[in-house]
Amino acid sequence: MINWFDFNEPSERLRSVIAEHRVVLLTSLTLLVIGLVSGAIIGLNRSIIVLLVAAVVAPNIVAPLRSGRRGGEAQRRSALRTIGGFGLSAIAVFGVIQLVPYGREHYNPPVTMEPAWSTPETRELMVRACFGCHSNEVRWPTYSKIAPFSWAVTQHVRSGRDAINYSEFESVEKDDESIEEVLEGSMPPRYYTVFGLHPEANLTDAEVDALVAGLRNTPGFVEDDD
Ligand code: HEC
Repeated sequence: MINWFDFNEPSERLRSVIAEHRVVLLTSLTLLVIGLVSGAIIGLNRSIIVLLVAAVVAPNIVAPLRSGRRGGEAQRRSALRTIGGFGLSAIAVFGVIQLVPYGREHYNPPVTMEPAWSTPETRELMVRACFGCHSNEVRWPTYSKIAPFSWAVTQHVRSGRDAINYSEFESVEKDDESIEEVLEGSMPPRYYTVFGLHPEANLTDAEVDALVAGLRNTPGFVEDDD
């Protein structure tokens, strides 16, 4: 076992621990960075990513620390094995998270009331760019059945419907921000269209203009003066 509390030479102790276990530490850090970056890209909560990475890292960090000091030669030889261990843990964690119930329910409640769209094209553009999260006609993609992507998709649809649901328009408040969001380009969120996902939601400038004009003429959509 390593004596973490060697008060005589604490910094040297720390340095030697880092040197002995640099493959483990570097792999863990790399995993964390990759996790956070891809989490940001697919719009998955940061603390979930940290938990997932911790689950992969933990068994691989505990074992080598327990075994204590190793020579440089042994360390070098075990680098491949260390990375293999990370791979196995990653596969195990991926398997286990499939058992989590959250994200499996792909439910579309009944459509109760849509806006009285000014033109069919307005509705068409809204369906393409917005209905994936703000409607009761969500088309759930295949990857939405696989954790952790299923968690991200479920979370987007839940909070999207909470923010505004164009299939339950009777409950939409007067200070709706739809036109502003489209004008600012902040909706749909960037993670919705990265990696060529949902290409239909990438509206051209002309389509954005048409959509804004269409919404301005649809009852229930108002624009703030400021
Ligand atoms: C990937 C899912 C997704 C898509 C697609 C999407 N949204 Fe959203 N939208 C959300 C989420 C999640 C929220 C709530 C959290 C937030 O504001 O980011 C939201 C919030 C909103 C809000 C409320 C903003 C506020 O501050 O009150 C409006 C209005 C909105 N979206 C309009 C749209 C419009 C219009 C489109 C299509 C052009 C669209 N959204 C496409 C996920 C989405």
